[in-house]
Amino acid sequence: MQTYILGIESSCDDTSAAVCCGNILLSNVIANQDIHREFGGVVPEFASRAHLQNIVPVVELSLQKAKINKKDISAIAFTLGPGLPGSLIVGVSFAKALAMALDVPLIAVDHLDAHIMSHFIKEGFDDEKSVPEFPFLCLTVSGGHTQISRIGDNFEIEILGRTIDDAAGEAFDKAAKILGLTYPGGVLIDKYAQSGNPDFVKFPEPKIGGLNFSFSGLKTSFLYHVRDNLKIDKDYIERNLNDLCASVQYAIVNALINKVKEAVRVTGIKEVAVAGGVSANSFLRETLIAIGKERSWEVYFPEPRYSTDNAAMIAVAGWYKYVKGDFSGVDVAPYSRSAVNSK
Ligand code: KG4
Ligand code: ZN
Repeated sequence: MQTYILGIESSCDDTSAAVCCGNILLSNVIANQDIHREFGGVVPEFASRAHLQNIVPVVELSLQKAKINKKDISAIAFTLGPGLPGSLIVGVSFAKALAMALDVPLIAVDHLDAHIMSHFIKEGFDDEKSVPEFPFLCLTVSGGHTQISRIGDNFEIEILGRTIDDAAGEAFDKAAKILGLTYPGGVLIDKYAQSGNPDFVKFPEPKIGGLNFSFSGLKTSFLYHVRDNLKIDKDYIERNLNDLCASVQYAIVNALINKVKEAVRVTGIKEVAVAGGVSANSFLRETLIAIGKERSWEVYFPEPRYSTDNAAMIAVAGWYKYVKGDFSGVDVAPYSRSAVNSK
């Protein structure tokens, strides 16, 4: 008999459900919530309401696309945290109720661990994509978190460094907001930067030792730069949009890459993976792949569709926990903040 895992992701503003058979993905459905755009950021109350409306049709569609019936589900994996409490509660409650109704086990998945597991999604029996070898380093860069970790055999995760203030995705989104771009702005900065000059403005490098990250100083200098120049030229942003995007993107990516170099130096590990929404960034991809070639590192990026939030990574992370018999009870409660020592 085949093992089918239904994965559910509702930690922020995307409602997603996916089905995998082992680590082979059969379907991945995502309902984005456009409602937040006009507010320049995610409005938690609107997000939980939209999850409530989306969750049933999204799960039904994921089963249809996987060509399975509810009764075929072997276990239900779901994001327990970190994320917005109201959003998490919708996915967690739905997963618990469905698992009870179908009498199948529940598998609680940490959202950040799942981003790392996005590297192990297979898209078919003949998917020959190479996966990171243990131990490997993973730079996880999302809208809410930025961390670098060492992943050992059995997927043991040791966090080596993390941001002390803003996340990399947040830095992209805040810079985009300063430029008047719509939320989430990371992808737009990526787009405009492609025709811009990264040397147009040189922003100071974050001064933070070890493997931790800091982006709030960069955000402030970007804000002051734009504000001061707008006083002299009211069309400053319009005239220089591409160059401003390229310059701020360069500063964020450079800060990330310097920490990856340091992590490789400290650990001696040359298997380097990147995960999370910001791993979709084309400049980060090109630069790190080029550096990897130069320094004989193996560099791994997920397919861009598995970089940003999705339930495929939850389903596949669930499969690896299923194999270990790592199930959870119906009494588990969502957590909004990152667990300090994830496993
Ligand atoms: O992992 P994710 O989808 O959600 C969280 O877990 O937070 O990451 C979302 C973040 C947002 O900040 C978004 O602006 C950023 O990823 N992002 C990008 C790109 N695509 C998404 N940032 C830079 N370049 C991109 N191409
Ligand atoms: Zn995420």
